[in-house]
Parts: sequence; C-alpha cells; structure tokens
Amino acid sequence: MKSEILSALRETGEYVSGQYLCDKLGVSRTAVWKGIQKLRQEGYVIEAVSNKGYRLIETMDVLNEDELKSRRRTCWIGEEIHYYEVTDSTNLRAKQLAEEGKPHGTLVVADRQDAGRGRRGKSWTSPPGISVYMSLILKPQIKPQSASMLTLIAGLAVARALKDYAGVSPQIKWPNDIVLGGKKVCGILAELSTEIEEIHYVVVGIGINVRNTEFPEEISSIATSLLLEGKDKIKRAELIGAVCESFEHYYGIFSETNDLSGLKEEYDKYLVNKGRQVRVSDPMEYFEGEAVGITDLGELIVDTEKGRRLVFAGEVSVRGIYGYV
Ligand code: BTN
Repeated sequence: MKSEILSALRETGEYVSGQYLCDKLGVSRTAVWKGIQKLRQEGYVIEAVSNKGYRLIETMDVLNEDELKSRRRTCWIGEEIHYYEVTDSTNLRAKQLAEEGKPHGTLVVADRQDAGRGRRGKSWTSPPGISVYMSLILKPQIKPQSASMLTLIAGLAVARALKDYAGVSPQIKWPNDIVLGGKKVCGILAELSTEIEEIHYVVVGIGINVRNTEFPEEISSIATSLLLEGKDKIKRAELIGAVCESFEHYYGIFSETNDLSGLKEEYDKYLVNKGRQVRVSDPMEYFEGEAVGITDLGELIVDTEKGRRLVFAGEVSVRGIYGYV
C-alpha cells in the first residue's frame, strides 16, 4: 500500500488528489490518509494542500522495502524483495534464502553489512546510509562453467545503470569491476551452488560506493564513489531499480544464446582494458600483453609476444602494468 502511494505520487511529481489515490488503489480515503501518515513517520516529506491534494517532496535517500518496491520497473527481478537495515552480508542472506527455495530474481538489499564479502576472500567495508549492497538470486538453466558470464552481465548492467541514471561515464575493468575516472566504484561477487552438471543457484552480489568519502587504507588510492565523482543527488533505491532493469534486459539477451555473443560488442565499449597492456596473474603463472576484447564466453582476449591467450574469469587478477587499470 505505501509503495503504491509512493509510485502514484511520483507519476507526475505534481499534486495528486486524495480521490485519485482512492480510485487508483481501490481503498478508502481513511486508508490513504493512514498510508500518508505512515510514510511521513518514516521521514518522507509529503505536502497536503486543500483542493489540490498530496505532493511528494523528494529530498531524502530513503532505503526500505516500500521504497524499493515503488522504484521497481522489472518483470521478474524483485518480485520478492528482502530488505535488511543491517545484516552480515546480502550474499549470505541470499544464499540462505535460495536454500529455502526463494525464486529466481529474488532481490536482497541491506543498508549496512557487518561482514560484507569481497572477491578472493577479502572483506567489503559496508557502512550504513551511503552505499548500495544488493544481491540477486538466479536459477539459470546453464552449465556451471558458464556461470562466470553472469558476473560480466552484472558488470554491464551496473555500467549501463550508472550511465543512464547517474549520468556518469563508467568503464568496466574485466571481468566486472566498475571504474570511474580510473578508480573502482563498484565490485561484484558471484557465488555458486552447483553439482557437476547442474547449477542450483547463483547469487550475484553488487556493492556500489554512492556517498563514501573514505575507504580502508589498502584500497584508498584505487577506490572512489559517485559523490567523489561529483554526483551528490543519487537515490540508492532508484539506482538499485536501474541496475535491476538493465540486468533483466541483458539477461534476456544472454538467455537467447546462453553466451555473450549478443552483448560482447556493448561490453567491449565499456572495457577499460581494451587496447591497454595488462598483467594477468593467477596462483600458477603470470604474463603480460595487450587486452583486445572478450570472447562469446566472456574470456578476456590478450595478445602476448608468444601469441593470443584467452583468460577465463576465475581467480585471476588482471591489472594495468602501470597500476589498477
Ligand atoms: C569485490 O571484491 O570487488 C566484490 C565486492 C562485492 C561486494 C558486494 S556488497 C553486496 C554483496 N554482499 C557481499 O557481502 N558482497 C557483495
């Protein structure tokens, strides 16, 4: 009910009469009034002017379940939303929910994480009120070895959402760090539950730095936020809505072929490594070469002195030879 009132108030951005809300929501005037009161108690500023109606003054960066629902523009992503003011990690919550049978497309969001997880066993510092911490439960009909393509799709979705909604010019550092001005603004962690031939579920976790102004010392030289890049009016729920929308769009294209053939051209446009020298390292070896793009399967194509190499997104690290990108 509250999310429907919010959506209706946002339709025009102008005054909306109480009667209009009653008709649209199919409820009484008292019910509308109570809904408005509850929203005000949660901090929304809603003007009420006689003979005109109600108007929402968009001032705050509110994050809660109603706000997320009211910002939803997708078919299957976010049909179920689980919001936590604080949790250990949205990835851990999502895994638990997936084990409990929650469906494909379930969205898990938190305002704060006290055990946020990053790639390669690192932690992801997750203070309240200033960042996006979201995870999606996916149940794709693909082979386990294809699952890493989902993280590239997530990277593409975040890049597109940041471009369209935040008005910035993001790049992707393969496989899925999102970069603004040469620094990391978003990290993605996909976790898999699988058997040899079959995926049970994939959890794709996305962390976006929105208003962070400080970072742990070890990443402070390579991390940034939308605020630090000049964007100070970002609403996290709206950004999450935009990420979900673009993810659903790209996932649809991926599902037609179960590979990235329909997406690699767009991905390559964002690829910060393209045409640059990179250093690829995994526990076994390291080599250098020029990154030229990705394959249909999402591998990074690197031209080395000894010939072309394809790098599979696993536990490898790819850095520019002069620094992070
Ligand atoms: C990275 O190291 O680059 C990946 C960071 C992923 C962080 C996100 S925040 C939401 C989700 N929950 C987690 O615990 N991690 C991911």
